Amino acid sequence: MKLYTTISSFQEALDAERAKGFKIGFVPTMGALHEGHLSLVDNAAAMADIVVVSIFVNPNQFNDPTDLVNYPRTLDSDIELLDTRQCDYLFYPSVSEVYPFPDTRHFEFGFLESVMEGEFRPGHFNGVAQVVSRLFEIVSPDMAFFGQKDFQQLAIIKDLVRRLNLPVRIIPCDIVREKDGLAMSSRNKLLLPEHRASAPLIYRTLLEAQKLSCSKSVQQVKAYVISTINSNSLLKIEYFDIVDDLTLSSVDTWNQPGIKVGCIALYAGKIRLIDNILFNVNQQ
Ligand code: PAJ
Repeated sequence: MKLYTTISSFQEALDAERAKGFKIGFVPTMGALHEGHLSLVDNAAAMADIVVVSIFVNPNQFNDPTDLVNYPRTLDSDIELLDTRQCDYLFYPSVSEVYPFPDTRHFEFGFLESVMEGEFRPGHFNGVAQVVSRLFEIVSPDMAFFGQKDFQQLAIIKDLVRRLNLPVRIIPCDIVREKDGLAMSSRNKLLLPEHRASAPLIYRTLLEAQKLSCSKSVQQVKAYVISTINSNSLLKIEYFDIVDDLTLSSVDTWNQPGIKVGCIALYAGKIRLIDNILFNVNQQ
């Protein structure tokens, strides 16, 4: 694996790969890598000739300054992990390399950015769009891989690519979980032991909600999830909603057309976690 920190030399190397006719698969990350990130690398290796990973903790997408300061930075172990997979290039730029000038671009995602994460993390998706479009400009990938863990982010990025007509295929990848069901996340490292011990309740509750969707209304399932999570004094729900997977608008009844996804955000102590689950349309 070759490591680059500056755009010009990195682009030269990628141009040489493209000249050989190789297709480039790109996995953007903020580091503190875990098996969830590595599964994106594996997907990229299976579909592309050259795999590029970026590690960049993007200040523009943090609406909470303490969250940015506390975000785990573990470059050495990230490199070790990437060395165990088929990653050809790691791009690890500084903030001034990515943003030589303040990025003042404003992206409009309409309804997609007004709900859930958009409502509770103002400015977050604009920062994500700034960095992803900038990284796409630098890497010019043929394909880019994103986790369904960040379901709304994926919807926003698909929309960004459509709006800007970017020549990149967005490939969604499954959520990878710990053995006890907790969705892997760089933030899990920050959980205190008692919060970590409570966190498996999240996925257990989502699975139960999926079962209940055969016999209970959307409203009953929502109420079940909210009351179950909040009954644990160490967890505090921020939102749970069942939405259409394309429009992200709230679903009223199970027999509405389209795929439905239950999205949750909550605090475990000071740490904010998100997760989601698809509701099987055939069950309804
Ligand atoms: P980060 O949180 O590091 O995640 C990088 C990618 O890994 C995202 O596509 C995310 O959805 C995926 N991912 C994280 N946990 C996962 C899991 N448990 N299973 C599957 N995929 C998982 O998301 C970001 O960084 C940033 O917003 C970024 C897109 C890099 C822009 O800064």
